[in-house]
Amino acid sequence: MTISLCIIAFFFDLNDADKPDSLKSLGACGYQNTSSNFVVALSSARFNGGNPNKDPICNKTIQVASDSKSVNVMVVDKCAGCNVNDLLLSPAAFSALADLNKGHMAVNWSKRDFTGGATYFFPDLGACGYQNTSNDFVAALSSVRFDRGNPNKDPICNKMIQVTCDSKSVNVMVVDKCAGCNANDLLLSPIAFSALADLSKGQVAVNWVFLS
Ligand SMILES: *[C@@H]1O[C@H](CO)[C@@H](O)[C@H](O)[C@H]1NC(C)=O
Ligand SMILES: *[C@@H]1O[C@H](CO)[C@@H](O)[C@H](O)[C@H]1NC(C)=O
Ligand SMILES: *[C@@H]1O[C@H](CO)[C@@H](O)[C@H](O)[C@H]1NC(C)=O
Ligand SMILES: *[C@@H]1O[C@H](CO)[C@@H](O)[C@H](O)[C@H]1NC(C)=O
Repeated sequence: MTISLCIIAFFFDLNDADKPDSLKSLGACGYQNTSSNFVVALSSARFNGGNPNKDPICNKTIQVASDSKSVNVMVVDKCAGCNVNDLLLSPAAFSALADLNKGHMAVNWSKRDFTGGATYFFPDLGACGYQNTSNDFVAALSSVRFDRGNPNKDPICNKMIQVTCDSKSVNVMVVDKCAGCNANDLLLSPIAFSALADLSKGQVAVNWVFLS
């Protein structure tokens, strides 16, 4: 399950590979990248308001496609002047889709989706500090998706994800952490799990994607 958006991609200059470390520019995510890295800057609307270094969008992989070509790039920076769906590609990534002389092009891009196992849990007071019930459409994600700080303030809390199993999908809010889950696994509330499969199945294979 991916979200495709028709947008414009430009490229940005990260070409300070030969500068001393003190002069190299860091992206909003705090990484030091170069023009030969396959990286992208997304619009401010895609970042939370907090410390961009800790933004959960940093280090995500998105796939950008133009006509029949596509490239996977890592989110490393914020583009203040971009419209919500526009993006800036590094020269290496832009060149994989079109000649740099073009300057900009229309692309479709999608957030990376995750494949894992879903089982169900009985929501209560979760790591995000919300009190939820079995009748709320909520999920717990693995610890690796949370920062190490206070989980109540984790930027992943309150995000919406869409979980798909075969041809059925359900949108759920992230409210808890699942300490025993593998990176891409999740726990769904009984009502959310039931929207995908019978509770008696216990566990199902799912694809999921962040909607926010
Ligand atoms: C971007 O830079 C970080 C280190 O600052 C590095 O770990 C990461 O691999 C780079 N991304 C790519 C796609 O090369
Ligand atoms: C990006 O995420 C991967 C996998 O979660 C991790 O191994 C890597 O260290 C991260 N890179 C940076 C630059 O944060
Ligand atoms: C974006 O996707 C639509 C629908 O699949 C397609 O018609 C269009 O040609 C794509 N645009 C680009 C620039 O690849
Ligand atoms: C989860 O609980 C919080 C309050 O504790 C509530 O605001 C939120 O709407 C609930 N989420 C869902 C999807 O019902």
